[in-house]
Amino acid sequence: MDRLRIRGGKPLHGEIPISGAKNAALPLMAAGLLSAEGLTLDNVPDLADIASMSQLLGVLGATIESKPDPSGRGRQLLIRADRFTSFEAPYDIVRKMRASVLVLGPLVARGGQARVSLPGGCAIGNRPVDLHLMALEEMGAEILLEAGYIEARAPKGLKGARVAFPMVSVGATENALMAAALADGETVLLNAAREPEIIDLAACLTAMGAKIEGAGTDTIRVRGVTSLHHARHTVIADRIETGTFAIAAALTGGDVELVGADLEHIAAAAAILEDAGVSLTPTARGFRVARANGRLEGVDVMTEPYPGFPTDLQAQFMALMTTAKGAAMVTETIFENRFMHVPELARMGANINVHGASAMIRGVERLKGAPVMATDLRASVSLVLAGLAAEGETLVNRIYHLDRGYERVEAKLGACGADIIREPGG
Ligand code: EPZ
Repeated sequence: MDRLRIRGGKPLHGEIPISGAKNAALPLMAAGLLSAEGLTLDNVPDLADIASMSQLLGVLGATIESKPDPSGRGRQLLIRADRFTSFEAPYDIVRKMRASVLVLGPLVARGGQARVSLPGGCAIGNRPVDLHLMALEEMGAEILLEAGYIEARAPKGLKGARVAFPMVSVGATENALMAAALADGETVLLNAAREPEIIDLAACLTAMGAKIEGAGTDTIRVRGVTSLHHARHTVIADRIETGTFAIAAALTGGDVELVGADLEHIAAAAAILEDAGVSLTPTARGFRVARANGRLEGVDVMTEPYPGFPTDLQAQFMALMTTAKGAAMVTETIFENRFMHVPELARMGANINVHGASAMIRGVERLKGAPVMATDLRASVSLVLAGLAAEGETLVNRIYHLDRGYERVEAKLGACGADIIREPGG
């Protein structure tokens, strides 16, 4: 497995192009199953998770043509699901990528049946899918859990329903939205997730002929249609990659323009970064990020569903706070086990104490390079960020998680002056 060797202490200067959002592209690819006429997606990032989703769609009978996006950004995918050859999302693919569960809604809505492996827990927490199942049951699907698989059936099609989510779930909202697009009658989703990725999915479904109102608010109304047609849709910029590189620039004391980034999509994180002393200036192509003056200040943060501070930036923000003045309290409210980066950051000299869902970070002058390793995507990238700012050499081992969610990370950082190389082993 590859590893990254980083010699820290070099401020980042230059520009970084922001890729299409992984977490928007994955549900959009699943939405390709809803139409017999095909779906063209532009600005799809070239990532391991996208390859896993392509493999899954292939198993179900779809064909995927992938070529460089004509605009020069990412890949263009043409997904064609004229007919299904299987309704099963097998364990081997689902265990590699939880987002596989997003094929459940489209399969049941268009094909009347689905057999999807239960994803099970993962490094960051238990992560049940009960809300995905609840939504489909409300729409009339019969669901059985058998031998580790979700067996869902709706031979006469799904019916519009009122689905009140007891808690906010991005994935359950996406599955329900896709299923409702082809259900008979009106579906109302209450306490729906409001993430930009939901708005992007709704925009794509609308371009395919779905009737959706309220995406981006907590109440989404969908009037079901009998079929969807071909559409061409461009994936939004990755707000988590944006936030990650903004933090990289701030942590190393650099000055970087994030090209194609959407500052509005990270408004909560941007406000926190500004409180800490980071300056963010909109430009014609995105925004510039730099440290306003000297050492940053410690700022408390709590993760929340959108529009709150994203859990997917929590580890990176913690890396930023390790060298801030004073103390910062970081509270994780979305996932129960998302502090795997803490012991690794501590090995680099960070002073962090965890009490339940909160971590108290007391800033130190400087981190020191060390060999480190993490077990999820965002924790891994937080160690890369720490390595960029640390004195000496950091080896980030087992970076396969990084490749699931960050496109050409070492090339993008290297182009801004980071001393970072990928090497085999680790
Ligand atoms: C999405 O996961 C993202 N993944 C995650 O990004 C992100 O961390 C998460 O949303 C929160 O923003 C994709 O979009 C592919 P949820 P998802 O359902 O949809 C609980 C990354 O690093 N819950 O909003 O799986 C759940 O356990 C990844 O890119 C239930 O209890 O997240 C969690 O505590 C990691 N029952 C909370 O809700 C359910 O049926 C929010 O999860 C579903 C969720």
